[in-house]
Amino acid sequence: MAIESGFAHKNGAGGRLEGRRPYYTPVGNEDTVFKAAYRQGLSIVLKGPTGCGKTRFVEAVAHDLDRPLITVACHDDLTTADLVGRYLLKGDETVWVDGPLTRAVREGAICYLDEVVEARQDTTVVLHPLADHRRQLPIERLGVTLDAAPGFGLVVSYNPGYQSVLKDLKDSTRQRMVAIEFGFPAPEVEVGIVAHEAGVDERTAAELVRFGQAIRRLETGGLREVASTRVLIAAARLIAEGLPVAVAAQVAVAGPLTDDIAVARGLNELIEVYLGETAAND
Ligand SMILES: Nc1ncnc2c1ncn2[C@@H]1O[C@H](COP(=O)(O)OP(=O)(O)OP(=O)(O)O)[C@@H](O)[C@H]1O
Ligand SMILES: [Mg+2]
Repeated sequence: MAIESGFAHKNGAGGRLEGRRPYYTPVGNEDTVFKAAYRQGLSIVLKGPTGCGKTRFVEAVAHDLDRPLITVACHDDLTTADLVGRYLLKGDETVWVDGPLTRAVREGAICYLDEVVEARQDTTVVLHPLADHRRQLPIERLGVTLDAAPGFGLVVSYNPGYQSVLKDLKDSTRQRMVAIEFGFPAPEVEVGIVAHEAGVDERTAAELVRFGQAIRRLETGGLREVASTRVLIAAARLIAEGLPVAVAAQVAVAGPLTDDIAVARGLNELIEVYLGETAAND
């Protein structure tokens, strides 16, 4: 089954979204590009490494645009029926239940398909008429084709570093989308994000960001993924709990990044170089 989460903010009277804007600091021109594409009814693909802020960005933009957000985490067992809907038995009746994509199409919500390349191509093909100028969703089982309600937006994301060529998106799907590339924020921006998210002071955040940057400069060095903003925030949260900096970096950054003993040793050396003195002072 698709894991699905509604927008955290409730629809209030008059359909406006209530609640504060999810905290998001722009990293480049993603906000302007996204909103221009959305206004033009173009679909959008967000590309970038894990933990660089794609999901948070979509939440913030959906809030700005005052649209509900429907998120689907894609996986290789995801079927078209999981997206579109299916007949279910309720008592002695069979009733049609809309899937998340159909609900978004009917409600004019933003539908966010996370890690879309995990889904099989025969599943994602249902996106084609929605992703181009037709903005339609054919529902074979019901024998109807829905026109997307105004406000509907299709956004997908994936991490280009992960998957094999085999799992790459079909060209016909890719070419229906505007691509926004995400990278990690500039150091001064990332310091602000880490400090805000973890509630640590800027000096602590800056030390972690310097350490994260050193890992990112390793040119892979046996790592499949480098240290993301997410893992730096996790380390900062542990520091906020009173853990020594070096321990926090070990368990929240080095540990999650690798199982390889030699690579782990290399990361631990970096911890000593970049955070050792602080650890000794704790
Ligand atoms: N630009 C940013 N502004 C605010 N917070 C950010 C930003 N970038 C990253 N974060 C923080 O990093 C965390 C991880 O980001 P997020 O979950 O959006 O990553 P993602 O790119 O969706 O990762 P994945 O590909 O693993 O789903 C967020 O919960 C948020 O705390
Ligand atoms: Mg995400």
